[in-house]
Parts: sequence; C-alpha cells; structure tokens
Amino acid sequence: MKQADRVYFGGDYNPDQWDEKTLREDMRLFRKAGISLLTLPVFSWAKLEPDEGVYDFGWLDHILDVIWQNGIRFCLATPTAAQPAWLSARYPEVLPVDIQGRKRTHGMRAFFCVNSVKYRERAAAIAHEFGRRYASHPALAMWHVSNEYGTSCYCSACRARFRLWLENRYGSAAGLNERWHTSFWGRQVTSFEEVQLPTELNDDYRFNPAVQLDYMRFLTDCTAECFRNEYDVLKSYNPEIPVMTNMSGFIRKLDQFTFTKEMDVVGWDNYPSPQDPPHLIALKHDIMRGLKGGQPYVLAEQSPNQQNWQPYNKLKRPGEVRLLSYQAMAHGADTCLFFQMRQSAAGQEKFHGAVISHAGHENTRVFRETSQLGHELEKLGGAFLHGRTPARAAMLMDWNNWWALELASGPSRDMDYLKAMALYYKPFHDRNIPVDIVNPGADTDYSGYALVAAPMLYMTKPGVAERLTEYVKGGGTLVATVMSGLADENDRCVFGEYPGKLRDVLGIWVEETDALRPEEGNRIVMNGTLPLERKEYACGFLCDLLHTRTAEALAVYGDDFYAGMPCVTRNRFGKGTAYYIGTQPEDSFLGSLIGEICGQAGLRSPFPCSPGTEITRRVNEAGTTVFVINHLPETAQVYFGEKRRTNLLTGEAVSGLYPVSGRAVLVLREEDPKGRMA
Ligand code: GLA
Ligand code: ZN
Repeated sequence: MKQADRVYFGGDYNPDQWDEKTLREDMRLFRKAGISLLTLPVFSWAKLEPDEGVYDFGWLDHILDVIWQNGIRFCLATPTAAQPAWLSARYPEVLPVDIQGRKRTHGMRAFFCVNSVKYRERAAAIAHEFGRRYASHPALAMWHVSNEYGTSCYCSACRARFRLWLENRYGSAAGLNERWHTSFWGRQVTSFEEVQLPTELNDDYRFNPAVQLDYMRFLTDCTAECFRNEYDVLKSYNPEIPVMTNMSGFIRKLDQFTFTKEMDVVGWDNYPSPQDPPHLIALKHDIMRGLKGGQPYVLAEQSPNQQNWQPYNKLKRPGEVRLLSYQAMAHGADTCLFFQMRQSAAGQEKFHGAVISHAGHENTRVFRETSQLGHELEKLGGAFLHGRTPARAAMLMDWNNWWALELASGPSRDMDYLKAMALYYKPFHDRNIPVDIVNPGADTDYSGYALVAAPMLYMTKPGVAERLTEYVKGGGTLVATVMSGLADENDRCVFGEYPGKLRDVLGIWVEETDALRPEEGNRIVMNGTLPLERKEYACGFLCDLLHTRTAEALAVYGDDFYAGMPCVTRNRFGKGTAYYIGTQPEDSFLGSLIGEICGQAGLRSPFPCSPGTEITRRVNEAGTTVFVINHLPETAQVYFGEKRRTNLLTGEAVSGLYPVSGRAVLVLREEDPKGRMA
C-alpha cells in the first residue's frame, strides 16, 4: 500500500465555490503555510454528474492540475455524501424515512438510505469515474469515501433487509423469539414478515432493547456494506491507494470496530468542545488507535479555529490548535488535517473556522498559527510516521455493550458508558501510562497486558468472560466494575447471581444494586489492606450490595442500610488478581487505587513530571519519539533522566530535570530502535 513520507498537513478544500483568481491565490497561501494535502471534492456530486450518467470532470481535472503543479498532494473524496437533487427527484427511494416515519425530501447532506439500491448503483458509478480518472495519479495519497456516515433509515427497503438480516442471524422465527425473549409482553412473531423496525411509530426504539440493539448492529453492517460498495470500485483501479472514510466524532452511532474492518486505515474527525478535558480527547484518540489493533490513523478533520455548530463557539485560544494537533499525533495520528482550508462564502458553515478566513489574506492569527504548525511538521518530516505505541495496560470497549447499557431501563437513567470509560482512563492518563483500547472477544490475546480494566462490561458475549478468567488465572490483573456481567449479547439477563460469568474470577456475588439520585452519595471506607492516600472517599450513582466468596473486601460502604457491606474487593485467582469496584467512586479514589494497582503490576510513568503534562511515545523503525505536551499555562517540570534526547523542533539536547513552558510541546527523539525507555 502507498505510504506517506510525511505527516500530511492540510484538509478539506471546496474550490468549486470560487474563481480562478482565488484558486491561484489559495495555492500561494497554501505553500506559504506548508500545506501538503488537500481533501476534495467532498460535496460536489451535483456538479460532477449534472444528469444521470453525464459527467463533467473538466473543472476538477483543472483544479487538481493546479494543486499538483504546486507540489500539493490530494486525498480524493467520492462526493457521495450529498446526492444530486435530480437523483432524489427521479428516484425517491434514495431518500430516507426518519424515526417518526416521515419520508424526507431532498435537502441537507448525508440524506440518503444506505440500503437504497439506486443510491448504491449511482455511488458505485461515480466511484468508477474517480477510479478511471485518478487512481494512478502521482499526487493521489488516499481515497476518502463519502463523509461521516451514520444516517438511520426506516424505509420499506430497510425493513425488508432487516428481516433478512434477522433471518440470517437467527434462522427461524422460533430462534428469534427465543433470542429476543418475546414471551415478555407477548411479542412473539410467527414469521420474519411480522417484524417491524424500531421507530417512534411503535416506540420499540426505546422500550424494546433487543430489537433496538439488533437494529443498531444492522445499521452498522449496512453502512459498512455501503462504504464497501465504493471501496471495491476504487480498489479495482489501484489496490495500492489506501481507502478510508472520515468517521464522525459522535462515535456512538455506529459500531466502529465492525465498521472499520472494511477500511484500510481508520479516519476520524476530532471536534472537542471547549470544556472537554485533555484525557477525554486522549481517550477518543486511543479508541481510534485501538480500532485496528494499534495501527496509526488519519486525523481527517479538526477545526483551525472556532466551530459554528456548538451553542457557543469559542475561539480556539492562541496555541490551542497546535496542542490539539500534537496530541492527536502523540496518540497515533499520522496526518493533521483541518476542516476547512478557506471559509465558505455562504451557507450553514460560513462562520466555521478556516485556515483562510473571509478576510482572504495571510495576516491573521489563525493563518500564522497554521503556518507555524505546517513548518514544524515539515521539519519533523517522517520522524514518527507509522509509529506504534507500546502499551501494557488495556481497557475493554464494546459498542454493543455501550448501546445495551444505555438502552436498559433501570437501574439509573444516567447510564453513560463513555463517561465510565473516561473515569477509568483518567488515572492512567494522569500517570502517562499508555492504554490500548481493546474489543473483547472469545479469542482476544491479553498476554501482552499486565493490567486490563473493563468498566461496566454489562454484556458478556460468548467466550469473553472465559477469556478474561483465563487471563487472570495465568497471572493477569483485571479491574471490573458495577454493571458487569448482567446480560448476554441479546440483552437477556444472566441467571444465577451477578456478575454472571465473571462471578468466579471476581470471587463475589452481587445481590442488589442501589441507584442514587445525583445529589445523593455514599462513602467508601477503606479497611487498611491497601495503602491508599485517604481512609475515606465519596461514591455515588450506583451501589452494589455484594457478598464476597473467595475475594477479600478492601473497603466497605459508610452509609445507608448497607453500611459495612463490601464495595471494593480483590480476588487472588490462579496466578493473578481481580479487583471489583461496586460503585462509582470519586476521581481521587480511582487515582489512588489505579496508581497502586499499576505499581503492583509494574506500570509506572515513563518520566516523573508535574500534573497536566501529557507524555506519550511512538516507536517506528527509526527509533522512539517522545511527545511532551504541557496542557497548563504554567511551566511544568519533567525529569528525563541522564540519557540525552534531541528536541526535533529546536535541535536542542534534553536531559535531566527540564522545564516545559506553559502550553508548550516537545517532540524528542530517542535513538533506540527497540523502543525501550532509557
Ligand atoms: C463535519 C463534516 C464537515 C464539516 C464539519 C464542521 O465533521 O465532516 O463537512 O461539516 O463537520 O465542523
Ligand atoms: Zn432505508
């Protein structure tokens, strides 16, 4: 596969809005800013195919020529996220039906049914045009299919396909009745023809978790197939060009472990809101790195300044885009791309930040900051490209689990899987202990991990608990939490004491789970077994009333009728250890506990440093690159030890106790090809 030789820098460019003079001026500005890649023409289907089978690519050929004459490469996007009006008018089947049962009219973008045969036919046809014309173009770096998939549809074609999908999965109506446990509320079906999509017309989307869960799986599969429809076409012209799509930063809607199987490389759009803490953004990057087992990914979009679609679109503070960009690369991104290069003349996104603003020239703060970053990346060249991040801690993540957990009615309405993931990720992030995000399966290999954390593993699919049990038996350390092991892959409850199949390895059983109001709380009272910083910590949200079997209690509840019952336990199991946290603790408890567990498992910060400093490593054939990002305005101190490293941005040698100025970034090179820490 064609590999990049640099960190591509640039992003979405929509030049079909402007004239030749502007195009030429853009090239001057792009060169000035160190732009090396442009993504286009994301939404230009109507202009490229003004009538069915009638193509007009002349204007695009010209723009691409100009781009390449300027030494800039391109990421070519099939424009299939915005079908032309004539397509919707002539073949209304391409338009989706929404969850309220309304047939949508032509409009917006990403307004198509992924199962529409006509849509797929026309999308493949234009993908052929792209393949025929550009697949061997020397400036083509990668293909970008459509844009931010994720439209749900409830049309009759989707319904028919859903029925087939179910038949394929469950074989017979009897099989489906069993797996969906339809004897509850008398929902038995006698044939697949009686199955409806879960919509607002029947309220099954919120009151029938089994069907909604399968609908979301189905939507993921159909979306992946729709992507694949174009992927295969593009690949047939040149298998060497990587094909991806940019996944929306709203990552819940499609199971991305499944979806990204169809892609050569993962691509995603990072749009943090101003109040997102660095660890939440870092977690999302790590999720992206985890989707293909640690493979570097494409940062397909981020905003060079404020957005337009947040309720309050704060300007990106000076240096903020630079920090966010390095954070992405520090966690595994091999590109640094923006939406958008030039601010649109009108329309919904006219106030969205852009490298070139409406002012139209280079004398702006954003342009200056972009250029600085562009030139830094030129200097870095391919230093850390294709680099992997070695991690000995893992966190489990599963989209089906996410959906099922949040679909469940009870015990609390505040169930939030990503929040739980972030809560458990933070103590690792605070210590700069790298974490792999892993999708648990029956064959998952945990042998490289000293520690596996599995927040709220509500759904245990076949083989998952068995695999985790083996891992602990063999010497691993597992951290499990409240809301674990309750359901199977169809959201049917596991009988015979919670946490179901995880009961033995955890050495406990959970009798009941109390749900607290947001203003209520309880206390975790340590019994002295573990040397944590404090004796007591706050907890809330959910409180398991649990009993130990082979496990020992590490802490008990301080209040309520279950005061004195264990809430945190440890089970020595085989050669390993399994911890259970039966409630939602305050941050500092997890900081202290995870710190202690990491210490016992031999995981520690690579370099001692002041809080607020993020340190990661990426290892490639040339050596190890260390990224140091100070997220705070104050100067931080980092102790690098005696070994000297080179700051690739300044050429300076770095060792010993080293001050890192507020909001500064260091990119250090360690010349040890094996990637061992000094
Ligand atoms: C998404 C889209 C872009 C643009 C940006 C604006 O990520 O992919 O086309 O709309 O949002 O933030
Ligand atoms: Zn549909």
